[in-house]
Amino acid sequence: MIKSITVDKETCIHCGMCLQECVVGCIAFDSEKIPGYILDGDKMCVGCQHCFAVCPTGALSFGGKNPADSLKVGYDDSEELLRLIKSRRSVRFFKQQDVPSEKISMLTEMLAYPPKGGNADSLHFTIVGTLEKMQAIKNFTYDTIQSMDKGSPVIEFCREKFNKGIDFIYRSAPSMIAVSVDKSRAIPGCENADPIIALSYLDLYAQSIGLGTLWSDCTLSVMNELSKVKAMLKIPAGYELNYTLLLGIPSVTYQRTVQREAANIQIL
Ligand SMILES: Cc1cc2nc3c(=O)[nH]c(=O)nc-3n(C[C@H](O)[C@H](O)[C@H](O)COP(=O)(O)O)c2cc1C
Repeated sequence: MIKSITVDKETCIHCGMCLQECVVGCIAFDSEKIPGYILDGDKMCVGCQHCFAVCPTGALSFGGKNPADSLKVGYDDSEELLRLIKSRRSVRFFKQQDVPSEKISMLTEMLAYPPKGGNADSLHFTIVGTLEKMQAIKNFTYDTIQSMDKGSPVIEFCREKFNKGIDFIYRSAPSMIAVSVDKSRAIPGCENADPIIALSYLDLYAQSIGLGTLWSDCTLSVMNELSKVKAMLKIPAGYELNYTLLLGIPSVTYQRTVQREAANIQIL
């Protein structure tokens, strides 16, 4: 990440919003009331871009980015968002076709935006993007399981299902996304939250573009138990697998939203 702040002196109105918004206090006015990093401010800066986002006149550029290239902030239809949240389903049946590459690109673009504690650069994503690659992982997984004498209860459960023709581990999904975390880069206490937040955003966005997902504990458990299967994800050194989400075009169509009981909430 390039950490730099440049300010257009002509359009800066010296309002101080960028100073106030900075979470680490690394920006101050100079003698002309133009904002900039304090000494070593670039080292303190977490790169959240709040200074850039809040500037009323677009005078401040972060990392050389042009404010005119940003989107208008906001969302105009909260009812539609709630309908999407209520419509999201765990999909366990997928069309046997690749997820179109433009949809994968939409997901990858989105993944730069979920929040992470301290805006840390702590996550790595592996996308298994084609049915063929998923098939290779699936074949190797079941070959490994079939060659084992006895595995954990999860492995034995998956073996039993497989012998009955059911792929409980991958649900025949044509794609999968795995998130890994470098705990030394994550803010302490955020190592487990950061990856799950990222996949939760992806989960919802995926449904909005016609994809289905499955949070699959079973996939994760198998990956963690069978290290050679996990190695197929080519997770870079220093990163630990945190979660896996199966992904694809659903072959099931839901006709209506479910109707949940109210969540267990107390308002103090
Ligand atoms: C963390 C997590 C792990 C899950 N693991 C599995 C799994 O291993 N296999 C499976 O079929 N469903 C799995 N699910 C899906 C849940 O069973 C599902 O979310 C729940 O039944 C509600 O259905 P819905 O997601 O369609 O609302 C998992 C869901 C979550 C959030």
